[in-house]
Amino acid sequence: MNENSESAQRDREGVENADTWDSIADWYVELLRSGSALNDFDRVILLEQLPADLTGQQVLDVGCGEGLITRAVATRGATALGIDPSPRMIEHARSGGGAEPGSVAYAVDDACLLATVASDSMDWVTAGLALNNVPDLDAALAAVRRVLRPAGRLTFTVPHPCFEAPHASWTQAADGTTRRVVGDYLAEGFWRSANRSAVRRAGNHHRTLTGYLRALLRHGFVLEHADEPRPSAAVAAQQPERAGLPPFLVLLARCG
Ligand SMILES: C[S@@+](CC[C@H](N)C(=O)[O-])C[C@H]1O[C@@H](n2cnc3c(N)ncnc32)[C@H](O)[C@@H]1O
Repeated sequence: MNENSESAQRDREGVENADTWDSIADWYVELLRSGSALNDFDRVILLEQLPADLTGQQVLDVGCGEGLITRAVATRGATALGIDPSPRMIEHARSGGGAEPGSVAYAVDDACLLATVASDSMDWVTAGLALNNVPDLDAALAAVRRVLRPAGRLTFTVPHPCFEAPHASWTQAADGTTRRVVGDYLAEGFWRSANRSAVRRAGNHHRTLTGYLRALLRHGFVLEHADEPRPSAAVAAQQPERAGLPPFLVLLARCG
């Protein structure tokens, strides 16, 4: 059994662990701060959906983690609020300081509730790799609709549903190339990687492409843009096997 199939086997066996985003927060923040090409790429493709000048705009960053997107929108002039249910992530975000010319604030909150956010208060909602972590996408989109102003927009990224489906793994093809193996695309629901160095050891909620698109439609969003960006040179250099696959799906929708 090669390394990839061993890791797939471990995933399938579902080795139990109790990791949560709060328990892996220190590890995740260290990963970001030591330079993760994939996370940098995700931030770039998300920020491309927003105007370069956000002066006077209220932006809610859902699932803000250590705040890299929250700070980035503030540097464009926004009044930015980052929320995350992990108290440890919010501690890290606060330690990241402010970002001028806008401002940043943080709160411990859940995307499915947005209890700390006033209705009709936001021009933009961003969610970088966060909605794949919420257990109830309908509740999260209803909450996002509630806090957005009538002309407000939501933009978010998720790990590409097709290629990051539960237990997707890598295999060596006969021609020597490394190929992605996906077998459980239609298996919507919670899954957790048993790989102790994978982000998804904290678990996440897999949804199909149409799962995301239909949820947006159910909540009255109008899709304005969708993209599956080719990996950056930095991602392809770190992980050459990813060069031909989009790691993320990015969507932009406005309130209809
Ligand atoms: C992959 S991290 C992304 C963090 C940040 N957006 C970034 O790009 O670095 C996923 C984040 O989603 C958060 N999360 C998990 N469940 C959530 C929920 N129900 N509501 C909002 N955020 C959630 C986690 O705590 C974690 O900080």
